[in-house]
Amino acid sequence: FKHFVSADQVDNQTANELIARAEAFKAGATASYPDVYVSNLFFEPSTRTHTSFEVAEQRLGLKVISFDPTHSSVQKGETLEDTIRTLNAIGINIAVMRHPQADYYRDLMTISDTAIVNAGDGAGQHPSQMMLDLMTIHETFGHFEGLRVGIVGDISHSRVARSDAALLTQLGASVSFSGPAAWYDDSFASFGNFVGLDELLPQVDVLMLLRVQLERFDDVERESFAKADYHRQYGITEARAAQLKPEAIIMHPAPVNRDVELASALVTGPQSKIFTQMHNGVYMRMAMLEKIIQAQHNA
Ligand code: CP
Repeated sequence: FKHFVSADQVDNQTANELIARAEAFKAGATASYPDVYVSNLFFEPSTRTHTSFEVAEQRLGLKVISFDPTHSSVQKGETLEDTIRTLNAIGINIAVMRHPQADYYRDLMTISDTAIVNAGDGAGQHPSQMMLDLMTIHETFGHFEGLRVGIVGDISHSRVARSDAALLTQLGASVSFSGPAAWYDDSFASFGNFVGLDELLPQVDVLMLLRVQLERFDDVERESFAKADYHRQYGITEARAAQLKPEAIIMHPAPVNRDVELASALVTGPQSKIFTQMHNGVYMRMAMLEKIIQAQHNA
């Protein structure tokens, strides 16, 4: 477990161990690794992932070395590979990285001793979001086996959908997808069926909404997108939310497009776990970083 980049690295035992450790951190457990240097390289915007990794790093006592892509030598044409080689030469043990290119990490994992923690790669994977989502579901229901999870919205652009669906099905949950049919593609078919929203809502224990990622659309798609139309056809209005089971939870990786994917009044409503997901993210990222640190120490 030298790097943490993708759902396919995580077997069920590892998932359950990470959840248990994150829950222990949430309950007050502490750990300290003051000899470890970490840098956060975010080549795409982020609020939650960047700041919660940084809080997790500070709580673990790591030395956090700032890296701003807009003021780095990447602007002079330095490659990602040479950037990682440089950080490794300087003594950075862990690079937490978000980048718009799917699979950016493939060529970085063999070139140095610096561990890569993927904080999101294009429409590829988002393993720390996946793990904090699993923690939030486990905290609510205590298990995964037999749970019904509906993932709704901009599926084909979603690294969250790809990561979460893979591990949820592996853990015994049943996943279905819904939203605009054009935003679903066959690469998700092995994880679950595509169904109509009104069929899906009464069945699910977990309703996982996805942000409409306009930044990943082409100009024609972006200009023709109408927020009100989307909300009426595929958004969770208060009337649609009334179809959910009372014990069902609403999740969203955020940022939320209010009154697009989800009615604004429901964002902080009683069934919403959206801010719990963010809170849990700090503890889960502590658990993930600790796993990488322990692997480095044992190498
Ligand atoms: N959920 C998520 O990845 O949010 P940020 O883009 O703000 O990090």
